Amino acid sequence: MKIGIMSDSHDHLENIKKSVALFKKHNVDYVLHLGDYVSPNAVLACRGLKLAGIFGNNDGDKFRLVSAFNSIDSEIKGEFHEVEEDGLLIACYHGSEPQLKDALIECGKYNVVIYGHTHQCRNEMVGSTLVINPGTVHGFGLEATIAILNTETSKTDFIHI
Ligand code: NI
Repeated sequence: MKIGIMSDSHDHLENIKKSVALFKKHNVDYVLHLGDYVSPNAVLACRGLKLAGIFGNNDGDKFRLVSAFNSIDSEIKGEFHEVEEDGLLIACYHGSEPQLKDALIECGKYNVVIYGHTHQCRNEMVGSTLVINPGTVHGFGLEATIAILNTETSKTDFIHI
């Protein structure tokens, strides 16, 4: 399975639309968004993707964000999402509290921990846990990136938007 990973899109509609096109081009099965959409329009711009999201620290209008997810046949899971794919137990957390993020990584329960928030790409084994940060869709004047995880090989590819 190929899982698209995106985070911290912060209302950058142009880069979100580019990300949607890239995920479609690479035939991902679905996409995890690690939060910080900011406005519901940033969620609506993901229309066409099968999206599973979590909230970030800049996602204040939760009611309208939930409505936006529902309207594109996708689901926002809350602050934390746990999913198993191809035998990999995957934890998703925005990363707002660094100590909680580190505890998830170091607890040894998860094969993969995915987070965002720092806007820094990461693809690293910590003990037996693969740690992934896709970087930021917004870019903030620097590099804008998304990632794709192949759950059969545990290989992560980063794509510049
Ligand atoms: Ni954040």
